[in-house]
Amino acid sequence: MDLKEAIKNRHSVRQYSDKKIEGEIEKDLHAEIENCSEESGLNIQLCLNEEKAFSNGIFAKISLFKNVKNYIVISGKKSDDLDEKIGYYGERIVLKATQLGLNTCWTASGYKKSKLGVEIGDKEKIFLIIIGYGINNGNSRKTKAIDKLGNVNNDSPHWFINGLKAVQFAPTARNQQRFKFILDGNSVEAKALFGFHTEIDLGIAKYHFEIGADSKEWVWKT
Ligand SMILES: Cc1cc2nc3c(=O)[nH]c(=O)nc-3n(C[C@H](O)[C@H](O)[C@H](O)COP(=O)(O)O)c2cc1C
Repeated sequence: MDLKEAIKNRHSVRQYSDKKIEGEIEKDLHAEIENCSEESGLNIQLCLNEEKAFSNGIFAKISLFKNVKNYIVISGKKSDDLDEKIGYYGERIVLKATQLGLNTCWTASGYKKSKLGVEIGDKEKIFLIIIGYGINNGNSRKTKAIDKLGNVNNDSPHWFINGLKAVQFAPTARNQQRFKFILDGNSVEAKALFGFHTEIDLGIAKYHFEIGADSKEWVWKT
């Protein structure tokens, strides 16, 4: 499965089987986590076979998650681009996991922070991705039209349209898709709009855009 197929195959999955992540799959997942940690400077930790974080506390009771035993904790020191980085590199791991036949769900809730089986530095922000073998592959859901996600017109180049189509499949908090991609000349500006976790969503969507646009004809506006 290439990354474009992984984008289409991925859905959030909230209920998991007991099947363990092990062998070659575990090795490949670790390798991608290491690459992403090195490139981003983020602290990315994989926690396997740990049941306490998602089975304790009020948030576990009211969440839709079932039998969560593995998760990735991404953390970093607060900075202007921290959330976008978490989104971008987290989604790289999510799509790699999808290629490896695993299911995932980004989450801001459902766990007890004090029970997480990882070390977190002082004053570090954390974000989680649940990972494992789902009891199903999740469901497709509604998306905004591409002309709501970017400044599309009759002259829009193919790569811009393809980038936006990949963005339609990006996971976002509450499926809010609150971002805008603006093409100006050959540069693309991606902006988060107001809402919860929209900078994380933006990082996720930018990774999808790069995969979909798949061409050297454009650059990110910095
Ligand atoms: C930043 C972020 C936070 C999320 N937080 C939660 C959460 O707390 N609980 C949950 O069940 N799903 C959560 N999700 C999953 C979204 O609800 C899901 O991605 C969205 O509804 C789109 O569905 P899809 O991932 O199947 O395409 C989160 C997703 C993102 C990107």
